[in-house]
Amino acid sequence: MTAHLVTNIGELVTWDADRPILHDAAFVVEGGRVAWFGHRTDAPAADSSSDVGGAAVIPGFVDSHTHLVFAGDRSAEFEARMTGEPYAAGGIRTTVAATRAAPDEQLRANVARHLAEMRAQGTTTAEIKSGYGLTVLDEARSLAIAGEFTDETTFLGAHVVPEGSDIAAYVDLVTGPMLEKSAPYARWIDAFCEDGAFGEDEARTVLTAGIAAGLLPRIHANQLGHGPGVQLAVELGAAAADHCTYLSDADVDALAGSDTVAGLLPGVEFSTRQPYPDARRLLDAGVTVSLATDCNPGSSYTSSMPFCIAVAVRDMGMSPREALWAATRGGAQSLRRDDVGHLSVGARADHAVLSAPSFVHLAYRPGVPLVASVG
Ligand code: NIG
Ligand code: FE
Repeated sequence: MTAHLVTNIGELVTWDADRPILHDAAFVVEGGRVAWFGHRTDAPAADSSSDVGGAAVIPGFVDSHTHLVFAGDRSAEFEARMTGEPYAAGGIRTTVAATRAAPDEQLRANVARHLAEMRAQGTTTAEIKSGYGLTVLDEARSLAIAGEFTDETTFLGAHVVPEGSDIAAYVDLVTGPMLEKSAPYARWIDAFCEDGAFGEDEARTVLTAGIAAGLLPRIHANQLGHGPGVQLAVELGAAAADHCTYLSDADVDALAGSDTVAGLLPGVEFSTRQPYPDARRLLDAGVTVSLATDCNPGSSYTSSMPFCIAVAVRDMGMSPREALWAATRGGAQSLRRDDVGHLSVGARADHAVLSAPSFVHLAYRPGVPLVASVG
């Protein structure tokens, strides 16, 4: 196996337990994994090397929540919101119609284009949900396409009840034939537990059926108001309760006493003019927090993890270091992955080189394309 040395790193973020951040550093990649890291002058001999000129190097971002399998455009909805219209989850049905009408090739090209955008901004692992098909055929094909790009595929048949369906009959469809056809392409099962989507009982039914089919649970919870989603996530041992915008003290306590990661998605609050989730409250309570884009055409059409970091630092009470951790290691924990989101020895060597001397610049220089290269 050949060894490649990345050297002259001004600041290297590894999240290693003993040396989480190093200066004047280097690391060695062998077989796609980190084989060594340390001070530049201690680096072992390697077959090849690259000099990053004193730049900061961070683990590639782990975007643990996206809805990339879609077609169509909802910029008019965004424009209306910015002049006072509220966000309505019912807008999802607009994307459902466009997605059903799109041929596979178009959906595949859309996923590829958004993933390329993400990679250019430092994302090296992305979860992708279905949820804009909402028929047996369209959910299964959405997941088959997502699976061409990532192992982190999520069945979200329980996104909204489609036009003209009755909720009880639709839950039967989701937990029956739709789950059967979708499960072979999915790792995760998700449900949008919210007023206007699925209530506590329906979400529990869907997630429990997914678990029985071998999928792992995660959930959209407490996005638009207080509700039962977070408690349900903890009850079911879900890996993630994503959104967490409206939380009671009991919700925070439940998360703190669990392995469920609280996923914060600030692109949503930016794009819907809702209050940002209170990351400080969660961190102070000992909750594990992740940051993700929720990239989708309705509530959060950003593919940028640096943007999410900048907002989290500016408006959600996170330090730059906490925000970077949440966007890398936190995202990995949300996906129950130990091989990504950090650069300790043995981890995948997925990393981003910044055109900056420190990761702090990700929040200090918002909107600036700081990712020089991704490896
Ligand atoms: O995560 N909350 C539900 N689903 C998406 C919104 C999708 C849409 O508006 O199209 C979300 O925000
Ligand atoms: Fe979402």
